[in-house]
Amino acid sequence: MARVLAIESSCDETACAIVEDSFVRASTVRTQIDVHARFGGVVPELASRHHLGAIVPVVRTAMETAGVGDFTELDALAVTEGPGLVGALLVGVQCARGLALATGLPLFGIHHMEGHLFSAVLGDDRIAARELEPHVALLVSGGHTEIVVVEGLGRYRILGATRDDAAGEAYDKAAKLLGLGYPGGPVIDRLAAEGDPQSIAFPRGMLERDNFEFSFSGLKTALLVHLEKHGQPQSRSGLADVCAAFQAAIVEVLVHKSRRAVRQSGLRRLHVVGGVAANRGLRAAAEAAGKDDGFEVVCPPLRYCGDNAAMIAAAAAARLRAGWRASTELHTTLAIDDPRMQAPERSA
Ligand code: KG4
Ligand code: ZN
Repeated sequence: MARVLAIESSCDETACAIVEDSFVRASTVRTQIDVHARFGGVVPELASRHHLGAIVPVVRTAMETAGVGDFTELDALAVTEGPGLVGALLVGVQCARGLALATGLPLFGIHHMEGHLFSAVLGDDRIAARELEPHVALLVSGGHTEIVVVEGLGRYRILGATRDDAAGEAYDKAAKLLGLGYPGGPVIDRLAAEGDPQSIAFPRGMLERDNFEFSFSGLKTALLVHLEKHGQPQSRSGLADVCAAFQAAIVEVLVHKSRRAVRQSGLRRLHVVGGVAANRGLRAAAEAAGKDDGFEVVCPPLRYCGDNAAMIAAAAAARLRAGWRASTELHTTLAIDDPRMQAPERSA
């Protein structure tokens, strides 16, 4: 068993968690949504400042919640090393480095997207906590949209990714166009549930292309053109229809390509992870596809879809158990399938 404390500060959440393998003992997340909402998006400098103020209290709260009184009760530390906002990452990385120096604990730098992969194995009790098994992952967040074949720890094969906007980014931009504020995903998701998805025929970017790539910028333009032509919706039901039609265009492409990836991989399991995995329409459509095609679908509980440190800790715990060496040489800009991320450096 590996007990790991992790810190995550890549964007607008300051988070600390303690896990035992993938069993979550504590997961503390302090969000900055209120700070950034009035600017319509994350302001990097403000994010760094708020991380600075929040990081120590958040670490303390996680330790108290987990009943960990002393760092000697831990086996390792972990931190999100990237990708993310550099000034924001720096706060978490330097805090973790300081803790590692002071305690002598090994420190694992974890790729943020590898963390999201591990969100699907987290459990709030030992029974719900799982091992990472081979699967296809649909990784959908504010900065990434990828289909990844996960063969095992550190063995990740990206089948395809977005050519332009990430799915979460498309939601956020659409919300801005509709005057719905930041972040856009949750509010469009709620309104979509009341609307008619067939009310407007928005384009399904790259749906018919025989690959695993995505493109959402055309959809954003189509929404803009629609609003220029028809004006802003004047009623709640009109707004709900636009949201439902927009969401349907995104969900259909995501699920269509994921389904094909599962079929092609020969694996019988799809994990939907990342902030957009909280989307009710996406969860329902992925589950329906799994039922039709006979594969298992795992969508993490909502609290583990968005950014959190438990997923970062679980990725490090798996590395520790597999005998990987911790490294303070942090690679902040690599893709998840870069060989330098994967080479299993075993400790002596
Ligand atoms: O993974 P995440 O918390 O941060 C990144 O790593 O980017 O993802 C944040 C993204 C935002 O774009 C947000 O609008 C989107 O996830 N999101 C959603 C929902 N909840 C959050 N998108 C669609 N439906 C939701 N319910
Ligand atoms: Zn994320």
